[in-house]
Amino acid sequence: MKLPDRVTMCEVGTRDGFQIEPDFIPTGQKVDVVDALSDAGVPRIEVTSFVHPKVVPALRDAEDVMARIKRRVGTRYAALVPNDKGASRAVDAGVEAIHTVLSASESHNLANVNMTIAESIEKLRGVFQIAGRAKLPVVSGISTSFGCPFEGRTPIAQLESVVRRLVDLGASAIGLADTTGMANPRQVTEVLEHLMPRFPGIEWTLHTHDTRAMAIPNILAAMALGVTHFDSSIGGLGGCPFAPGASGNVCSEDLVHCLHSMGIDTGIDLDRLVAVSKRVETIVGRALPGQIVKAGKWDRRYPLPDGVAARLPQRAS
Ligand code: COA
Ligand code: ZN
Repeated sequence: MKLPDRVTMCEVGTRDGFQIEPDFIPTGQKVDVVDALSDAGVPRIEVTSFVHPKVVPALRDAEDVMARIKRRVGTRYAALVPNDKGASRAVDAGVEAIHTVLSASESHNLANVNMTIAESIEKLRGVFQIAGRAKLPVVSGISTSFGCPFEGRTPIAQLESVVRRLVDLGASAIGLADTTGMANPRQVTEVLEHLMPRFPGIEWTLHTHDTRAMAIPNILAAMALGVTHFDSSIGGLGGCPFAPGASGNVCSEDLVHCLHSMGIDTGIDLDRLVAVSKRVETIVGRALPGQIVKAGKWDRRYPLPDGVAARLPQRAS
């Protein structure tokens, strides 16, 4: 399997994760998590979203969070926005990149942002203008790229047409999101093999949810085709409030562990990341789905059981 030497991870736990937490997470705790992720060397963080505060009350403190986080050189602090109003708020709050959202399926786009895809594209035109004036990079996320909980599998032609419209607006970075974990590795391969040659020069990101335990296999399939940007969520937090059946993103520390164990560099300090995950478990008050927090790293060793040491055959030196 041909894999890249290095990948760039974007942490989305404080946005995709915290947005569906039933209890409001105090601003100071959100800031602590972002700062701890920065200290762990995470290169990109989707800190929060600038959406309607009544629609996603969990993130109604977006401005305060952005104002209070410590900025580490080497980390890019982004926020998710659905429209021009969100983009203006994000620019005023000092984001370093704008992540946009629309869906590849009409039903999910209406459920999520109350717009048809065509209406979203018009709003995103304004977002690109605002980002352009502020000289900020834009990553255009496409929810339900592979499947929609209302419509089923997303036809490639439908996804391609949304990508085309984004590229026409000026998109140079596109995030394909598997919002409810419906994609499988063969489908990821087919979609990327279709899109990558048609849109050369695009920086592709894969945004996965582990709803059906296929996130890491999907990421491997994408890496094998040269994709090097992945979203993930600390502890495996996450889920879209407007997609029934949604659950957590691929777990950041599990993915970093998987990559590091194969010799793929992320620039992230895994031990520190695991510590952040444990802290987030205390904040949300429950165990999270991550495996490495429980199992330890692959090279963990245990003491020998009684009597085994004495009976081990001597190794020839
Ligand atoms: N931030 C804050 N307020 C916003 C806003 C934003 N990004 N966008 C619109 N508003 C305000 C408008 O100013 C307007 O306020 P007013 O009534 O005081 O004039 C009001 O919301 C209605 O504006 P409208 O454009 O009609 O929005 P809407 O009610 O159709 O809602 C969205 C559209 C996109 C703002 C809303 O559906 C939303 O925030 N969705 C986000 C969903 C999400 O985060 N999903 C999870 C992530 S994938
Ligand atoms: Zn998501």
